Amino acid sequence: MKNILVTGGAGFIGVNFVRMLLNETDDINVINYDALTYAGNLASLDDCLNNERHIFIHGDICDINKVEDTFERYSPEGVINFAAESHVDRSITDPDIFLKTNIMGTLSLLRASRKFNVKRFLQVSTDEVYGSLGLTGKFTEATNILPNSPYSASKASADHFVRAFNHTYDFDTVITRCSNNYGPYQFPEKMIPLCINNILKNKNLPVYGDGMQIRDWLFVKDHCTAIWEVFNKGKSGEVYNIGGSNEKANLELVKILLKILNKPESLITFVKDRPGHDRRYAIDNSKIMSDLNWKLSVTFEQGIELTVKWYLDNKKWLENVTSGAYQNYYSNMYSNR
Ligand code: NAD
Ligand code: DAU
Repeated sequence: MKNILVTGGAGFIGVNFVRMLLNETDDINVINYDALTYAGNLASLDDCLNNERHIFIHGDICDINKVEDTFERYSPEGVINFAAESHVDRSITDPDIFLKTNIMGTLSLLRASRKFNVKRFLQVSTDEVYGSLGLTGKFTEATNILPNSPYSASKASADHFVRAFNHTYDFDTVITRCSNNYGPYQFPEKMIPLCINNILKNKNLPVYGDGMQIRDWLFVKDHCTAIWEVFNKGKSGEVYNIGGSNEKANLELVKILLKILNKPESLITFVKDRPGHDRRYAIDNSKIMSDLNWKLSVTFEQGIELTVKWYLDNKKWLENVTSGAYQNYYSNMYSNR
């Protein structure tokens, strides 16, 4: 049996990844280390909590003592770091926690990983570190790093620390940079689940600016398989871009959701734009496809149908995460737009 430390395994992508490892391997114990912030939710792993290969540790990646205790106790062979503050809008109103978790937290994991002889460290990063594209072109692994938001600045900084550990200490690291994910268990502060939740409640859909910003949407399960390929077969020191080859303007995306749920376009409301809003992201997938043989498993049409169905089948989960603190978040974030 191998122990793999997964941080942030109670968040959106983390729960999909942990479930995939538990279901699709039989020789891996998942040490799931998560602070359970507003974005972390153990109810999203209810079917995995009794699995003896899943060990949940409630801890902050910035807490070096707790991090080191965990490494000492479980001697993980590998670390996959999902833990982060992940929402751009929150980083605009409160950047400090992004610096702490995304940069200092990554540094504390890197230090402990070296100290306890971890064989490989995978940093889950984002295409947002590359900044914004014009009407043409795609991000490759050689694109300059030009982050525009406090969120992407913190992720870019973490990537630089990961690279520096590889270069300076010859420590085995890989970095993945992925485009926008969608799928089951995404917290409804993000565009797709926020719109699904609002549509189900007949509430307006807040589209920032002119709604012509473009994102490259990827079904979360395909992100998880890509991370696992990079962890197992990627070359130390390298970066791998991951994308859905699926560019959609926000307005088009919202219309697709309304059509699937059979609701009128009159729910669309244009609101004040996000400050510094990146106009377009698009990923060149060719490196991961040719070097590691990774492929997309679903089309966007299949993935979005599955996603809407998941939210319809899991209304209780949605109710739980949108009660209480979410109401305050929503009114603070959207009342003056
Ligand atoms: P999320 O916000 O849904 O989950 C983040 C998880 O990290 C939560 O479980 C939270 O409790 C945990 N966490 C936060 N601070 C922590 C801390 N200090 N210590 C321990 N745990 C902490 O995020 P997500 O959408 O699942 O994203 C996961 C990772 O993937 C992030 O690093 C993000 O930057 C990256 N990423 C996300 C996307 C996307 O579209 N969602 C795309 C590319 C990359
Ligand atoms: O590209 C990868 C990134 O994708 C990840 O690194 C981030 O963690 C993840 O949050 C996501 O960032 P975005 O800012 O692109 O995602 P979000 O869902 O917040 O917004 C998607 C698009 O929709 C973006 O152009 C902003 C717009 N939007 C978003 C919200 C929440 C709206 O128009 N209205 C909204 O209410």
